[in-house]
Amino acid sequence: MDLRVDLGGLTLKNPVMTASGTFGYGLEFAPYGDLRSLGGIVVKGLSLKPREGNPVPRLAETPSGMLNAIGLQNCGAERFLKSMLPGLPWRETPVVANLYACDTLEFAELAGLLASAEGVAALEVNISCPNVQAGGVLFGQDPALAARVTEAVKARAGSKPVMVKLSPNVTDIVAVAKAVEGAGADAISLINTLTGMAVDVRTRKPRLANVVGGLSGPAIKPVALRCVWQVSRAVSIPVVGMGGISSATDALEFILVGAGAVQVGTANFLRPDFSFRLAEELPLAAQALGITDLSTFRGSLAVG
Ligand SMILES: Cc1cc2nc3c(=O)[nH]c(=O)nc-3n(C[C@H](O)[C@H](O)[C@H](O)COP(=O)(O)O)c2cc1C
Repeated sequence: MDLRVDLGGLTLKNPVMTASGTFGYGLEFAPYGDLRSLGGIVVKGLSLKPREGNPVPRLAETPSGMLNAIGLQNCGAERFLKSMLPGLPWRETPVVANLYACDTLEFAELAGLLASAEGVAALEVNISCPNVQAGGVLFGQDPALAARVTEAVKARAGSKPVMVKLSPNVTDIVAVAKAVEGAGADAISLINTLTGMAVDVRTRKPRLANVVGGLSGPAIKPVALRCVWQVSRAVSIPVVGMGGISSATDALEFILVGAGAVQVGTANFLRPDFSFRLAEELPLAAQALGITDLSTFRGSLAVG
Protein backbone atom coordinates (compact mmCIF):
# COMPACT_ATOMS: atom_id res chain seq x y z
CA MET A 1 0.00 0.00 0.00
CA ASP A 2 1.32 3.44 -0.91
CA LEU A 3 1.39 5.29 2.42
CA ARG A 4 3.04 8.51 1.23
CA VAL A 5 1.34 11.79 2.05
CA ASP A 6 1.99 15.32 0.88
CA LEU A 7 1.26 17.92 3.55
CA GLY A 8 1.43 21.15 1.59
CA GLY A 9 4.95 20.48 0.33
CA LEU A 10 6.11 18.29 3.22
CA THR A 11 6.32 14.70 1.98
CA LEU A 12 6.00 11.89 4.51
CA LYS A 13 6.67 8.21 3.81
CA ASN A 14 3.70 7.30 6.02
CA PRO A 15 1.03 9.30 7.89
CA VAL A 16 2.36 8.67 11.43
CA MET A 17 3.90 11.66 13.15
CA THR A 18 4.66 12.35 16.82
CA ALA A 19 2.88 15.20 18.61
CA SER A 20 4.92 18.07 19.99
CA GLY A 21 5.78 17.93 23.67
CA THR A 22 5.10 14.21 23.96
CA PHE A 23 8.16 12.81 22.16
CA GLY A 24 10.92 14.97 23.65
CA TYR A 25 13.44 16.11 21.06
CA GLY A 26 13.12 12.71 19.38
CA LEU A 27 16.32 10.99 20.45
CA GLU A 28 14.89 10.13 23.88
CA PHE A 29 12.64 7.63 22.06
CA ALA A 30 15.37 6.02 19.95
CA PRO A 31 15.71 3.08 22.41
CA TYR A 32 12.09 2.09 21.69
CA GLY A 33 12.12 1.86 17.91
CA ASP A 34 13.64 3.06 14.66
CA LEU A 35 13.05 6.82 14.33
CA ARG A 36 13.45 6.42 10.55
CA SER A 37 10.28 4.31 10.42
CA LEU A 38 8.12 7.28 11.42
CA GLY A 39 6.41 9.53 8.88
CA GLY A 40 7.56 12.64 10.74
CA ILE A 41 8.99 13.74 14.07
CA VAL A 42 7.51 16.86 15.61
CA VAL A 43 9.78 17.99 18.41
CA LYS A 44 9.00 19.67 21.72
CA GLY A 45 7.82 23.27 21.42
CA LEU A 46 10.77 25.63 20.96
CA SER A 47 11.07 29.29 21.91
CA LEU A 48 13.78 31.82 21.12
CA LYS A 49 15.15 31.72 24.66
CA PRO A 50 15.16 28.66 26.95
CA ARG A 51 12.10 28.43 29.24
CA GLU A 52 11.82 26.83 32.67
CA GLY A 53 8.11 26.15 32.41
CA ASN A 54 5.53 26.23 35.19
CA PRO A 55 5.99 25.17 38.84
CA VAL A 56 5.31 21.52 39.78
CA PRO A 57 3.04 19.56 40.00
CA ARG A 58 2.50 19.97 36.25
CA LEU A 59 0.84 16.66 35.42
CA ALA A 60 -2.32 15.02 36.76
CA GLU A 61 -4.03 11.83 35.64
CA THR A 62 -7.79 11.90 35.10
CA PRO A 63 -10.14 9.16 33.82
CA SER A 64 -9.22 8.53 30.14
CA GLY A 65 -6.99 11.56 29.99
CA MET A 66 -4.10 13.53 31.36
CA LEU A 67 -3.90 17.15 32.46
CA ASN A 68 -0.67 19.04 31.91
CA ALA A 69 0.55 22.54 32.54
CA ILE A 70 4.19 22.19 31.53
CA GLY A 71 4.32 25.80 30.35
CA LEU A 72 6.48 25.05 27.32
CA GLN A 73 9.68 24.22 29.16
CA ASN A 74 12.38 23.89 26.52
CA CYS A 75 16.09 24.35 25.83
CA GLY A 76 15.65 27.17 23.31
CA ALA A 77 15.89 27.00 19.52
CA GLU A 78 19.65 27.54 19.25
CA ARG A 79 20.57 24.72 21.57
CA PHE A 80 18.14 22.40 19.76
CA LEU A 81 19.71 23.22 16.39
CA LYS A 82 23.25 22.82 17.68
CA SER A 83 22.98 19.86 20.04
CA MET A 84 19.89 17.80 19.23
CA LEU A 85 19.01 18.15 15.56
CA PRO A 86 22.32 16.71 14.25
CA GLY A 87 21.60 13.45 16.12
CA LEU A 88 18.20 12.98 14.49
CA PRO A 89 17.82 11.01 11.21
CA TRP A 90 16.44 14.11 9.46
CA ARG A 91 17.52 12.93 6.00
CA GLU A 92 15.25 9.87 6.30
CA THR A 93 12.40 11.23 8.43
CA PRO A 94 11.35 14.87 8.25
CA VAL A 95 11.83 16.78 11.49
CA VAL A 96 9.19 19.41 12.17
CA ALA A 97 10.02 22.24 14.56
CA ASN A 98 7.14 23.38 16.77
CA LEU A 99 7.33 27.12 17.57
CA TYR A 100 6.09 29.17 20.46
CA ALA A 101 6.59 32.92 20.93
CA CYS A 102 5.01 35.79 22.86
CA ASP A 103 4.38 38.15 19.93
CA THR A 104 4.43 38.21 16.14
CA LEU A 105 7.92 39.75 15.90
CA GLU A 106 9.36 36.98 18.06
CA PHE A 107 7.47 34.35 16.03
CA ALA A 108 9.04 35.79 12.86
CA GLU A 109 12.57 35.77 14.30
CA LEU A 110 12.17 32.22 15.59
CA ALA A 111 10.75 31.07 12.24
CA GLY A 112 13.73 32.58 10.41
CA LEU A 113 16.19 30.85 12.71
CA LEU A 114 14.56 27.41 12.53
CA ALA A 115 13.73 27.49 8.81
CA SER A 116 17.34 28.29 7.94
CA ALA A 117 18.49 24.94 9.39
CA GLU A 118 18.92 22.26 6.74
CA GLY A 119 17.56 19.50 9.01
CA VAL A 120 14.28 21.26 9.77
CA ALA A 121 11.78 20.16 7.10
CA ALA A 122 8.79 22.26 8.18
CA LEU A 123 7.48 24.51 10.91
CA GLU A 124 4.46 23.88 13.13
CA VAL A 125 3.20 27.07 14.74
CA ASN A 126 1.69 26.61 18.18
CA ILE A 127 -0.94 29.30 18.62
CA SER A 128 -2.92 27.01 20.87
CA CYS A 129 -1.09 26.39 24.16
CA PRO A 130 -3.44 26.88 27.10
CA ASN A 131 -0.67 26.79 29.72
CA VAL A 132 1.34 29.97 29.27
CA GLN A 133 0.69 33.50 30.51
CA ALA A 134 1.68 35.53 27.46
CA GLY A 135 0.40 34.73 23.97
CA GLY A 136 -0.35 31.02 23.78
CA VAL A 137 -3.94 30.19 23.07
CA LEU A 138 -4.92 33.87 22.78
CA PHE A 139 -3.32 33.93 19.31
CA GLY A 140 -5.40 30.97 18.30
CA GLN A 141 -8.69 32.29 19.65
CA ASP A 142 -8.82 35.37 17.46
CA PRO A 143 -8.92 34.67 13.69
CA ALA A 144 -7.29 38.04 12.85
CA LEU A 145 -4.43 37.49 15.30
CA ALA A 146 -4.00 33.89 14.11
CA ALA A 147 -3.71 35.19 10.54
CA ARG A 148 -1.14 37.80 11.57
CA VAL A 149 1.09 35.21 13.25
CA THR A 150 0.77 32.92 10.21
CA GLU A 151 1.77 35.73 7.84
CA ALA A 152 4.74 36.68 10.03
CA VAL A 153 6.00 33.08 10.13
CA LYS A 154 5.41 32.49 6.40
CA ALA A 155 7.36 35.62 5.55
CA ARG A 156 10.45 34.17 7.24
CA ALA A 157 9.99 30.46 6.50
CA GLY A 158 11.48 30.56 2.99
CA SER A 159 10.54 27.42 1.10
CA LYS A 160 9.77 25.42 4.27
CA PRO A 161 6.09 24.49 4.67
CA VAL A 162 4.23 26.10 7.57
CA MET A 163 1.61 24.15 9.49
CA VAL A 164 -0.54 26.03 12.01
CA LYS A 165 -1.75 24.16 15.09
CA LEU A 166 -5.22 25.07 16.26
CA SER A 167 -6.96 25.03 19.61
CA PRO A 168 -10.31 23.40 20.34
CA ASN A 169 -10.87 26.06 23.04
CA VAL A 170 -12.80 28.31 20.67
CA THR A 171 -16.42 28.84 19.67
CA ASP A 172 -15.78 28.46 15.94
CA ILE A 173 -12.67 26.50 14.92
CA VAL A 174 -13.59 26.77 11.22
CA ALA A 175 -13.28 30.57 11.35
CA VAL A 176 -9.73 30.28 12.72
CA ALA A 177 -8.85 27.58 10.17
CA LYS A 178 -10.07 29.72 7.26
CA ALA A 179 -8.16 32.75 8.59
CA VAL A 180 -4.84 30.88 8.72
CA GLU A 181 -5.45 29.32 5.31
CA GLY A 182 -6.09 32.82 3.93
CA ALA A 183 -2.85 34.01 5.54
CA GLY A 184 -0.81 31.40 3.65
CA ALA A 185 -0.65 28.35 5.94
CA ASP A 186 0.40 25.24 3.99
CA ALA A 187 -1.35 22.85 6.39
CA ILE A 188 -3.32 22.84 9.62
CA SER A 189 -2.83 20.53 12.60
CA LEU A 190 -5.38 20.01 15.32
CA ILE A 191 -6.20 19.67 18.12
CA ASN A 192 -4.13 21.00 21.00
CA THR A 193 -5.38 20.22 24.52
CA LEU A 194 -8.74 21.22 26.00
CA THR A 195 -8.63 23.44 29.07
CA GLY A 196 -9.50 21.52 32.23
CA MET A 197 -8.81 21.15 35.94
CA ALA A 198 -8.60 18.50 38.64
CA VAL A 199 -9.01 19.06 42.38
CA ASP A 200 -8.41 17.12 45.60
CA VAL A 201 -11.26 17.19 48.16
CA ARG A 202 -8.99 16.07 51.00
CA THR A 203 -6.41 18.83 50.65
CA ARG A 204 -8.94 21.18 49.04
CA LYS A 205 -6.25 22.07 46.56
CA PRO A 206 -6.00 21.95 42.79
CA ARG A 207 -3.91 19.02 41.53
CA LEU A 208 -1.86 21.31 39.28
CA ALA A 209 0.20 24.20 40.64
CA ASN A 210 -1.07 26.19 37.64
CA VAL A 211 -4.66 25.32 38.76
CA VAL A 212 -5.82 24.75 35.18
CA GLY A 213 -4.14 22.69 32.49
CA GLY A 214 -4.60 21.03 29.11
CA LEU A 215 -6.54 17.78 28.85
CA SER A 216 -5.21 15.21 26.37
CA GLY A 217 -5.64 11.48 25.72
CA PRO A 218 -8.59 9.24 24.78
CA ALA A 219 -11.04 11.56 26.60
CA ILE A 220 -10.61 14.21 23.90
CA LYS A 221 -10.83 11.99 20.80
CA PRO A 222 -14.51 12.71 20.02
CA VAL A 223 -13.84 16.47 20.17
CA ALA A 224 -10.75 16.08 17.98
CA LEU A 225 -12.61 14.00 15.38
CA ARG A 226 -15.34 16.61 15.21
CA CYS A 227 -12.78 19.40 14.72
CA VAL A 228 -10.88 17.52 12.00
CA TRP A 229 -14.12 16.70 10.21
CA GLN A 230 -15.38 20.31 10.31
CA VAL A 231 -12.06 21.89 9.34
CA SER A 232 -11.08 19.45 6.57
CA ARG A 233 -14.40 20.12 4.80
CA ALA A 234 -13.98 23.89 5.09
CA VAL A 235 -10.39 24.37 3.84
CA SER A 236 -8.46 23.14 0.83
CA ILE A 237 -5.08 22.71 2.54
CA PRO A 238 -4.14 19.39 4.22
CA VAL A 239 -5.22 18.75 7.81
CA VAL A 240 -3.25 16.72 10.35
CA GLY A 241 -5.34 15.18 13.13
CA MET A 242 -4.52 14.32 16.70
CA GLY A 243 -6.21 13.85 20.06
CA GLY A 244 -6.33 10.58 21.96
CA ILE A 245 -4.98 8.28 19.26
CA SER A 246 -4.07 5.01 20.95
CA SER A 247 -4.72 2.34 18.30
CA ALA A 248 -4.48 1.89 14.53
CA THR A 249 -8.28 2.05 14.37
CA ASP A 250 -8.18 5.47 16.08
CA ALA A 251 -5.73 6.70 13.43
CA LEU A 252 -7.95 5.36 10.64
CA GLU A 253 -10.93 7.18 12.17
CA PHE A 254 -9.03 10.47 11.82
CA ILE A 255 -8.15 9.67 8.20
CA LEU A 256 -11.78 8.74 7.49
CA VAL A 257 -12.96 12.17 8.67
CA GLY A 258 -10.38 13.91 6.48
CA ALA A 259 -6.92 13.90 8.08
CA GLY A 260 -3.96 13.61 5.70
CA ALA A 261 -1.74 12.45 8.56
CA VAL A 262 -2.00 11.88 12.30
CA GLN A 263 0.08 12.75 15.33
CA VAL A 264 0.47 10.59 18.43
CA GLY A 265 0.62 12.43 21.77
CA THR A 266 -0.27 11.08 25.20
CA ALA A 267 -0.03 7.44 24.01
CA ASN A 268 3.78 7.96 23.87
CA PHE A 269 3.82 8.34 27.67
CA LEU A 270 1.94 5.08 28.25
CA ARG A 271 3.74 3.06 25.57
CA PRO A 272 6.98 4.63 24.39
CA ASP A 273 7.05 2.29 21.38
CA PHE A 274 3.48 3.13 20.34
CA SER A 275 4.29 5.52 17.46
CA PHE A 276 6.66 2.95 15.91
CA ARG A 277 4.05 0.19 16.26
CA LEU A 278 1.40 2.41 14.73
CA ALA A 279 3.55 3.07 11.66
CA GLU A 280 3.82 -0.72 11.23
CA GLU A 281 0.23 -1.57 12.08
CA LEU A 282 -1.62 1.14 10.16
CA PRO A 283 -1.38 -0.50 6.70
CA LEU A 284 -2.26 -3.91 8.19
CA ALA A 285 -5.31 -2.50 9.99
CA ALA A 286 -6.36 -0.75 6.77
CA GLN A 287 -5.99 -3.96 4.75
CA ALA A 288 -8.02 -5.89 7.33
CA LEU A 289 -10.86 -3.44 6.67
CA GLY A 290 -10.57 -3.92 2.91
CA ILE A 291 -8.98 -0.50 2.37
CA THR A 292 -6.51 -0.75 -0.49
CA ASP A 293 -5.75 2.92 -0.95
CA LEU A 294 -5.53 5.47 1.86
CA SER A 295 -6.04 8.42 -0.46
CA THR A 296 -9.49 7.27 -1.55
CA PHE A 297 -10.39 6.27 2.02
CA ARG A 298 -9.36 9.72 3.31
CA GLY A 299 -12.37 11.93 4.01
CA SER A 300 -14.77 9.28 2.72
CA LEU A 301 -17.07 9.40 5.76
CA ALA A 302 -20.63 8.73 4.61
CA VAL A 303 -22.89 11.30 6.21
CA GLY A 304 -26.69 11.19 5.87
C1 LIG B 1 2.95 17.00 28.30
C2 LIG B 1 2.47 17.65 27.03
C3 LIG B 1 3.23 18.67 26.46
C4 LIG B 1 2.79 19.29 25.27
N1 LIG B 1 3.57 20.26 24.70
C5 LIG B 1 3.19 20.82 23.51
C6 LIG B 1 4.02 21.77 22.84
O1 LIG B 1 5.13 22.10 23.30
N2 LIG B 1 3.56 22.31 21.67
C7 LIG B 1 2.35 21.95 21.12
O2 LIG B 1 1.99 22.46 20.05
N3 LIG B 1 1.57 21.01 21.71
C8 LIG B 1 1.95 20.45 22.89
N4 LIG B 1 1.15 19.50 23.49
C9 LIG B 1 -0.12 19.08 22.84
C10 LIG B 1 0.06 17.78 22.04
O3 LIG B 1 0.99 17.95 21.00
C11 LIG B 1 -1.30 17.32 21.44
O4 LIG B 1 -1.82 18.37 20.64
C12 LIG B 1 -2.33 16.97 22.51
O5 LIG B 1 -1.74 16.33 23.60
C13 LIG B 1 -3.48 16.11 21.95
O6 LIG B 1 -3.03 14.86 21.50
P1 LIG B 1 -3.08 13.50 22.43
O7 LIG B 1 -4.46 13.42 23.01
O8 LIG B 1 -2.72 12.39 21.51
O9 LIG B 1 -2.06 13.72 23.50
C14 LIG B 1 1.57 18.88 24.67
C15 LIG B 1 0.82 17.84 25.26
C16 LIG B 1 1.25 17.22 26.42
C17 LIG B 1 0.42 16.11 27.00
